[in-house]
Amino acid sequence: MSITRAIFPGTFDPITNGHLDLIHRGSRIFDELVVAVLRHPEKNPLFSLDERVEMLREVTTDRDNVSVATFDGLLVDFARQTGASAVLRGIRAISDYEYEFQMALMNRRLAPEVEVVFMMPAQRYTFVSSRLLKEVYLLGGEIEDLVPPIVLERLRAKVAVPSHL
Ligand code: PNS
Repeated sequence: MSITRAIFPGTFDPITNGHLDLIHRGSRIFDELVVAVLRHPEKNPLFSLDERVEMLREVTTDRDNVSVATFDGLLVDFARQTGASAVLRGIRAISDYEYEFQMALMNRRLAPEVEVVFMMPAQRYTFVSSRLLKEVYLLGGEIEDLVPPIVLERLRAKVAVPSHL
């Protein structure tokens, strides 16, 4: 019997409840889901690669068919090396669509055998992004129900919120 392995790639700086929701959905439809953290993203990450991987491992320990890996270079090359037949991406809103559409078609051009599968997170997470929640946290806003507890702990340990709050 063949195994369907999928990659869930991203920067995960840091993982949000929206990502986690997608991981849970993906782990229910694929036999194996490999969460793949980009080692050197163009944007300068707040969390180191090790920190991003540690947080992902911690929040996925309850899922036997989910693993965490890192990659550099082309995503499709990593998918091929891993023996993955699918790439999972989340679509939150129409604004995500254009970027995701371009990436999906470019990836298909590079590796037609790797299918890109889009899933929607729960509605309550459709406005959540790593970039926005870091901004809100750094300005002293509440983000408690948008990230797993370990992310909040790590954020608090890394950056103190402004003193006026
Ligand atoms: O979390 P992000 O920033 O939305 O993830 C973007 C990611 C990592 C999926 C994308 O930047 C990527 O695949 N990078 C690897 C390099 C690559 O394959 N580029 C061509 C994409 S068509």
